[in-house]
Amino acid sequence: MADDIYFLGFNDRRTNLFENIWPIPHGISYNSYLIVDEKIALIDTVERAFIDEYLDKIEDIIGDRPVDYLIINHMEPDHSGALKAIVQKYPGITLVGNKKTFNFVESFYMQPQNVLEVYDEHTLELGKHKLQFQLIPMVHWPETMVTFEETNKILFSGDAFGSYGTLDGGIFDDEINLDFYEIEVMRYFTNIVGKYCPHTQRAIKKLAPLDIKMIAATHGPIWRSNLDWVLTRYNKWSSYDLERGVIIVYGSMYGNTQKMAEVIARQLAVRGIKNIRVYDASKTHSSYIINDIFKYKGFIVGSPAYNNALFPNVQTLLSTIEHMAPKNHYLGIFGNFAWNGGGVKNLKLFAEKIKWELVYDPVEEKGSLKPERRDELIKMADAMADKLLED
Ligand SMILES: Cc1cc2nc3c(=O)[nH]c(=O)nc-3n(C[C@H](O)[C@H](O)[C@H](O)COP(=O)(O)O)c2cc1C
Ligand SMILES: [Fe+2]
Ligand SMILES: [Fe+2]
Repeated sequence: MADDIYFLGFNDRRTNLFENIWPIPHGISYNSYLIVDEKIALIDTVERAFIDEYLDKIEDIIGDRPVDYLIINHMEPDHSGALKAIVQKYPGITLVGNKKTFNFVESFYMQPQNVLEVYDEHTLELGKHKLQFQLIPMVHWPETMVTFEETNKILFSGDAFGSYGTLDGGIFDDEINLDFYEIEVMRYFTNIVGKYCPHTQRAIKKLAPLDIKMIAATHGPIWRSNLDWVLTRYNKWSSYDLERGVIIVYGSMYGNTQKMAEVIARQLAVRGIKNIRVYDASKTHSSYIINDIFKYKGFIVGSPAYNNALFPNVQTLLSTIEHMAPKNHYLGIFGNFAWNGGGVKNLKLFAEKIKWELVYDPVEEKGSLKPERRDELIKMADAMADKLLED
């Protein structure tokens, strides 16, 4: 990567679900970094499935010299997975973290022996290379920090600016077609860090004074040619800067609720809305729907009544949205029933909790869609279009 700085990345093409929740059809990489100077430092480790390969790779580079420091930017096990193995192999190693880090080390792995507690702007000299630390809590965990290598101006950023998707040969942003990572970078952000947008904004502001020439995250490509590509996106997403567009999500067993969604979608198109994405909550994983919620301002959700409640797959999506609580949306709700209802009733509860602006009264049909309700759906679409067009 630079004089005496090595990329130790591993491609995971086996795992289906990251954190056992989020689909990763294009896999993911776990990136660790090694600085070989008078003192040798590792920055973060890798997922435990890669421990053996990881230890071998380190030894290939440094032979029988010991590693002096393990810098722990983030304790989530996708990066601390090899911590114990590293400490066992290099017992004299000093763990470098902040006030919150070592508590996690103890919870997951061991009572640490040699530790160096660092704080904002604290520096550590390795010889030619000087490291500076900055805490960025909640991007993605309470202990999260970044390490800035001052000699080459490399920011080791942890999860921030990371991406799903393996590194298939190309490692640097200028070696790959970034079109492939467009959705994967965004999904990594929205799925994993999206709940912590205010913290991300704080981190961006805090790191702004640093003269960063390269960003080396713990997942995905290393940014060295087009840092703006990822920085502008992170800034946009974490400030809920949304585009004119509507996501319509529905659950449907027998097609009645789906038909209602199609009517709304068509009318939005007639009104000139070009970004319309209609999703069946039973088929499309929330990972992708959440992504679009960080893109488009309109959100319309429909559910049939199901045993006096929401359709379960709609329920799951909505609880994920409530959990992440993205802001700045316009909302529409609709549903279908046959007995005593249960869909719209619960969608109203969602509307109250999420506090997005409801653009039109809820529309609920009993069974097949009849002209009167169709008109109401068209009016809902009109109300949504009006809101979006006047922004
Ligand atoms: C398993 C099941 C449970 C249902 N529970 C309710 C209910 O609690 N209240 C109600 O009004 N209708 C209930 N219904 C009726 C459906 O909400 C109704 O048939 C609706 O039109 C289905 O919409 P869909 O065609 O989009 O699937 C239930 C239907 C099924 C199959
Ligand atoms: Fe993480
Ligand atoms: Fe991670």
